Amino acid sequence: MIYIILGILALIYLITQPLLIVIYFKMKYGKRVIIQYYPMLGLLRSLSQSRVINGDAFEAFSVLIKNNRQADILVSNLLFRPLIIFLKPKYYRIIMQQHQDYRKFPMIVDKRLVSKGMLMEGGSKWKQQRNLLGVHFEYNKLINLIPMINDVAQKKLINLPNSIFPAMNLASSITGEVVLRAFFGEDIAKLSLNGQDPSQCVTQLITRFGQLITESRFFQIKRALFEEKVFSLFPRQIEKDLYEMNTIMLDHMKKAIQSRMEKLKNCKNFVHQDYLDVYLDVYLNKNDQMNPPITEDEILQQSITLYFAGTETTANLVTTACYFLAEHQQLQEEIYQEIIEVLNGEQTITAKHLQNLQKVTGFLMECLRLKPVAPMLISKQALKDLYIEDIFIKKGWYVNYMVLSNAQNQEFFQNPKNIDIKRWKADGTLKDSSIDPFAFVPFSAGGRNCIGQYLALIESKIVISKILLLYRLKLNEKIIRTEWIAKITYGLSNQDYLTWEKR
Ligand code: HEM
Repeated sequence: MIYIILGILALIYLITQPLLIVIYFKMKYGKRVIIQYYPMLGLLRSLSQSRVINGDAFEAFSVLIKNNRQADILVSNLLFRPLIIFLKPKYYRIIMQQHQDYRKFPMIVDKRLVSKGMLMEGGSKWKQQRNLLGVHFEYNKLINLIPMINDVAQKKLINLPNSIFPAMNLASSITGEVVLRAFFGEDIAKLSLNGQDPSQCVTQLITRFGQLITESRFFQIKRALFEEKVFSLFPRQIEKDLYEMNTIMLDHMKKAIQSRMEKLKNCKNFVHQDYLDVYLDVYLNKNDQMNPPITEDEILQQSITLYFAGTETTANLVTTACYFLAEHQQLQEEIYQEIIEVLNGEQTITAKHLQNLQKVTGFLMECLRLKPVAPMLISKQALKDLYIEDIFIKKGWYVNYMVLSNAQNQEFFQNPKNIDIKRWKADGTLKDSSIDPFAFVPFSAGGRNCIGQYLALIESKIVISKILLLYRLKLNEKIIRTEWIAKITYGLSNQDYLTWEKR
């Protein structure tokens, strides 16, 4: 009995401890602070509430921040710890420059998936991974992928089963195959998951994880108490299904990697065809020079990292773009005319075409500004006591940055709610060079910015151009409520929002 009472007291202490810190912040910094405390769920609670009330998970935050522009930070909680969300670029600059002082919050609880990949790793392991793959994500290397991206997009777009079709399914099927081909090359055929398109599985996985994370208090409490054992203790059906899907995906990827390894074992001077070759070359031939050495599990998790990080994100951008095009018919026509002019009758989009698609680029940047795929970054836990300007952060607390807050800030963008493609230059940078470069960071910034950002933009530009060459997009009038949801990323729910009329 005494243990039960002690357990309950400990739980009450853990739950209320961040509340005391939230109150301390408000008392110390006054109007510079907005507070959002909810036991356990913290910020996630407001996301699910806002989705229900406004049809948009981040609408409540946008309004809150807009009405409190003087605020520098939003203080909330992440499970049992305080979460300090910075709202101004000057603070974000400091966090990014000192990224080694933090470790990322393991959003995806199942440690078998991405914990050893570049997105989540830290310290010397992360540095090694970034050095190994960074060069292959530079623009001059990525342009070699353009023909493959054209082929994948054309193949998936040419014959849609119906005129009403969820854009998210289509987009993730394209972006998923592109990442898989970039990583696994021709071995992608081995990755069909029990006959299902693997990228559809990833979309399902991420949406279900998102649901669990943002909407299930039961899952949150279990997770806070038992961490990765969350799947084995009192699992509900949704958790069992999710775990099972992860296992199937891991097994398939492992087999594809092992079969490639067998092929390469006897080959001394192979030419790198894809990212898996880059990794296996080091693993098989140079691992004794690596400190720390690469493991097979790391290769597996790196491939899943790129797959996760590269599929949903770009698919959300393409889906948002399709939706806005359907909503703004005149803009759709203007962008379509640009594509016709730039391509001048050619079918395959080249690097030269991409450079000249200025309106398409500006439009995609506006989509990222209005509906950033990552409206907040992954929360980061301080590894030591530190200051961000005058704000004290204790070891163990979490920090984050609200990308969304400045992307729609009148101080940086006039008429922030309007799509204005003229804000952007052809290379995707802002025409107004006086705007703080840290004000709009859809791909994060600094040393841990998105390694795949050029790939994402190349891909989205090709896919949107191909879509408009083939289809005229309209809103499906049968759908009366549009839902912008927080999965792990942020974007439209997977519904038939659009009709696809063949041109
Ligand atoms: C519209 C598309 C995309 C958006 C908006 C996006 C956004 C981001 C953001 C905000 C981060 C920083 C996360 C954080 O630290 O909190 C990030 C990191 C990362 N992204 Fe992307 N991303 C996109 C596409 C891609 C693609 C296509 C790939 C690869 C195929 C990719 C791979 C990664 C990786 C590996 C990291 C971790 C980099 C590191 O920590 O060194 N992303 N992305």
